[in-house]
Amino acid sequence: MLSRRIKEKLNDYPTPFYLYDMDLLGQTLDEIKHQAERDGYKIHYAIKANGDETILREVLKRGFGIDCVSGRELALVRQLGFPAEGIVYAGVGKSDREIELGITEGIRAFNCESRQELQVINELAEKLGKRARVALRINPDVDPQTHRHISTGQADSKFGISYKEIDLVADELAEYGNLDFQGLHFHIGSQITDMRVFEFFCRRVNSLAEWFAERGFPVGYINMGGGLGVNYEAPDSEPMPDFGAYFDAFRRNLQLHPATEVHFELGRAMVAQCGELITRVLFNKLNSAGNEVVIVDGSMSELIRPALYDAYHRIENLSAREDGLRRSYIVAGTVCESSDIFATDRTLPELRRGDLVAIQSAGAYGISMASTYNMHAIPASVYFSEKLKAKN
Ligand code: LLP
Repeated sequence: MLSRRIKEKLNDYPTPFYLYDMDLLGQTLDEIKHQAERDGYKIHYAIKANGDETILREVLKRGFGIDCVSGRELALVRQLGFPAEGIVYAGVGKSDREIELGITEGIRAFNCESRQELQVINELAEKLGKRARVALRINPDVDPQTHRHISTGQADSKFGISYKEIDLVADELAEYGNLDFQGLHFHIGSQITDMRVFEFFCRRVNSLAEWFAERGFPVGYINMGGGLGVNYEAPDSEPMPDFGAYFDAFRRNLQLHPATEVHFELGRAMVAQCGELITRVLFNKLNSAGNEVVIVDGSMSELIRPALYDAYHRIENLSAREDGLRRSYIVAGTVCESSDIFATDRTLPELRRGDLVAIQSAGAYGISMASTYNMHAIPASVYFSEKLKAKN
């Protein structure tokens, strides 16, 4: 919930833009650090959630590593000063150039997603006269109970090495002279809010780690991926997820050799709640079905989650009047697509032309998935901190 002082300031900026609460970001990152350090867990921020450099500097300041999925993400974080030792690299389709970059930079681990990828990394490392550290991303076939578009660890998915090929991989691994096997990597899906999913997932991981150890590949590195969900329905009452309960699920259920390093790749949980998309009402109209439609000046080009996943984002009328009048709206964007709708049947304080509207919980997979569709500009970012202001 934005303070009145911040709300008044927002009128100075052209809409739409992303607004980041740097205090909440700082508190969230501090809390993760505090909770993870208790168990010596290593955190890699999944930069795909939001690659904003101001956010990345906060991540860097706290000593977190990075989970990247492209050469450009890798190059950016190296340039910003993230140590190669804290960088892991996942992704089903790494190009030769991207792999070469990872090898020359000496990253902590390639999280390999196929037999062929292992072979190619080995060849490229040999060509460069270097060694590469690799972990195997195994598809554990766990139902994450989330939206199907953000489920990644089930049998029919494109991600990871399947049970069908796991034997072959273990046989071949021993033959690759330029690879240093680290351990196993997983990522079962995103926006997971039921801790029982993680508990079940841990049990699968325990048996896989044992299986590899029995085959002569002791697992010194286990990367459990990301996936922790946030409260999109009530972000103001739950501005950060319960990281204590999350890490608890792993502490209680992972049974690994005590020397095993446990890594996580959180994205959404670190940044979703600190960001909002600020838009302005352009027009009100009535459709033939009798629904009140309000058109705001943002769209799926700036925030695609509602159009792509039917995602719920809370909406706040920042210019709400005190008359208490509320109405039910379809909140629509400007783009020429029927799916460019932020909300249907949403009851909000009356919206009028010129009102500022915040679409909340947009810090993760908001600007990082923004496009220039309809030749929109990628929106600007504005950062605020009540704390900083108070200090001045
Ligand atoms: N690690 C890997 C290998 C991943 O693929 C992802 C996310 C993460 C970590 C971070 O997951 P998180 O902690 O954020 O759940 N665009 C979708 C989300 C896609 C997630 C893709 N992978 C959305 O807006 O909901």
